[in-house]
Amino acid sequence: MSGARQGGKSLALPGVRGTARALLLVMVAATLGAGTADAADPRAGEVKSKPCTTCHGKDGIGTMPMIPNLAGQKSIYLIQQLRGFRDGKRSSEVMSIVVRSLSDLDIEDLAAFYESLNPAGAGG
Ligand code: HEC
Repeated sequence: MSGARQGGKSLALPGVRGTARALLLVMVAATLGAGTADAADPRAGEVKSKPCTTCHGKDGIGTMPMIPNLAGQKSIYLIQQLRGFRDGKRSSEVMSIVVRSLSDLDIEDLAAFYESLNPAGAGG
């Protein structure tokens, strides 16, 4: 089977094509939608970072000597540490409590947010 048929002979074909195209569009839209929902979103991370700012600063710079800077840190590392705190692989009196209720998506958003900040602080 090959090639295009002449329009007049196959009335069904345009319909089939239309349906196929519509399905394809739906699939593409669904894929894009899912991508958007699943991908780490630094802006969502910024919103979720409100409870973190007391200690890690608005700009991701630790507010006290014992609190690490997060600004500009690699997101994969941040994700690993946050999961570690949550899953008990890394222990910290404070952080283990803080991350207890975070979902994987929360963690990814937070990591994307902190990675996007300027490691030199303010303005980033
Ligand atoms: C009450 C203070 C406090 C709050 C609130 C807090 N943290 Fe922390 N965070 C700390 C301290 C202290 C450490 C160092 C832990 C250790 O000694 O292992 C830390 C460590 C971390 C680390 C590991 C950094 C590294 O370099 O390994 C990450 C990531 C982190 N915090 C993210 C967050 C996020 C995200 C939030 C908000 C959801 C948050 N923290 C809220 C105090 C806090």
